[in-house]
Amino acid sequence: MSQGRQGAQGTQAQRVVVVGGGAAGLYSALTVRALDPGAQVTLLTKRNIEESNTRYAQGGIAAVIPGIAASDSIGAHIADTLAAGAGLCAEDAVTLMCGEAPQHIAHLEELGVPFDAEGAQPALGREAAHSAPRILRIGGDASGAGLFAGLIAAVRADGAIEVVEHAFVTAILRADDEQAPRAAGVELITGSGAVSVIEADAVVLATGGAGQLFEHTTNPSVATADGVALAWYAGAAVADAEFFQFHPTALDVPGNPLISEAVRGEGAHLVDASGQRFLQHFTGAGDLAPRDLVSRSIARHLAATGEARVFLDATGLGRSFLERRFPTLTALTRRHGLDWSVEPIPVVPAAHYWMGGVRTDTWGRTSLPGLYAAGEVACTGVHGANRLASNSLLEGLVFGARAAAALSAAASVAPWPVFASTPLDLGGSGVEQAFTRAELQRLMSDHVGVVRDGNGLRIAAKQLAQFGTAVSSVGDREQGNLLLAARLVVHAAAARTTSRGAHYRSDDPDSASNRPSVPEGSRKPVGFGSSMAFSNAAAGVNS
Ligand code: SIN
Repeated sequence: MSQGRQGAQGTQAQRVVVVGGGAAGLYSALTVRALDPGAQVTLLTKRNIEESNTRYAQGGIAAVIPGIAASDSIGAHIADTLAAGAGLCAEDAVTLMCGEAPQHIAHLEELGVPFDAEGAQPALGREAAHSAPRILRIGGDASGAGLFAGLIAAVRADGAIEVVEHAFVTAILRADDEQAPRAAGVELITGSGAVSVIEADAVVLATGGAGQLFEHTTNPSVATADGVALAWYAGAAVADAEFFQFHPTALDVPGNPLISEAVRGEGAHLVDASGQRFLQHFTGAGDLAPRDLVSRSIARHLAATGEARVFLDATGLGRSFLERRFPTLTALTRRHGLDWSVEPIPVVPAAHYWMGGVRTDTWGRTSLPGLYAAGEVACTGVHGANRLASNSLLEGLVFGARAAAALSAAASVAPWPVFASTPLDLGGSGVEQAFTRAELQRLMSDHVGVVRDGNGLRIAAKQLAQFGTAVSSVGDREQGNLLLAARLVVHAAAARTTSRGAHYRSDDPDSASNRPSVPEGSRKPVGFGSSMAFSNAAAGVNS
């Protein structure tokens, strides 16, 4: 039982461990404290707290604020999300996310997050596959940094959220002595190398994604699938692993920094080496087609022409507009010796966001009682097979708050969910060949990237089965987490023999165009029906 301190009512205080310091983790820690002021909240980050994916987000937060844009509606946001998700979204999660957006934007304003305004109204940006301008931004193109600064300031002001940096979580503690297993805390390695445990009543995973699986990624080096690995070894189900989103426009320089989709939303377009637009040959929606379609079109164009790279032409927007609207990107391109007001800049599709992750319900509850997940590490089904632009910060806020509400018992939630999942043994072949991150990234990029086929997936699976890692250092453990995630992605991608959303198989190209149309008001029930979930055969929680 809990060893927590006495709460105001004489009951034992909840002990909550939040793993990860991005938007979902910070917001869920703040929400726990707001709902349950006696709760003991510890927030763990594996590096310095500044180093999270949230900080790199540029576009903003998609949200329809009633009364602001007469031509937009929450229903339209829902319909756009479902359409971008290629018919695999969980509609209940989408409806909640879009519907609850306004209350979280209002809360962020109360926390002092400085959203950009035009006159007395919030400035609304447009991004691909949105039927209306509805992206709220901060600092032009520094939305993640602005949001992050506001949340960090609130956490620091709270004073009672213990933030432990350089804390690498190595395992979810399970209490298996009861009839049903449950999460009971975490084991971690601190910066000094000491191993310790924190017992807890609830553990929230908010560890972000796994972009480091690929050579080109917009994600920072910390995006190594840690939360998915922790959940997997604890026995929680993982779903939709085959769906990895590649952002069409990372700058084609080392590190592949993101060039926001908002730039195309403002009128820039992709061109080939001779300055010609080419997207119209692949998709009628051109530059504002859903992200998976644009990335795939770039790959197909390069394969068909033998050209080496494509370019983003923002010259038509003019220097002063670019400097005002995209100050961070203007500075970034300058640092790389590029003047994007006079010349197209080289771009490349880069791994950006993992739609798959730890399967949760709409309260962030995984299949292991006591273990919650929110943000990119989670798979609520809200993104289906392809995430709509600027829904990720929103997802972190909405489901981070919902997880906090559920674990605080502030909301009346149904009995713990049971998810169907197929038990899977993802152990290797026993060869245990050492590998570098670069070798893993090359293998994944060659065979499991924007375009896949059965043969390439078999090659990847065979090689991945031979790789193995030691588990001594934190770096080794990150490497092991990436290996597990790679095996999960490849297994799921091989199992889904048809194309859907971001999972495009060149050996079944036609089904990719089968993106169900979901006009507002006539939505069909969609959801996890055709989604695949797996769980670790060795851990066995529920399947
Ligand atoms: C972007 O600004 O293009 C990224 C936004 C997102 O990934 O949602």
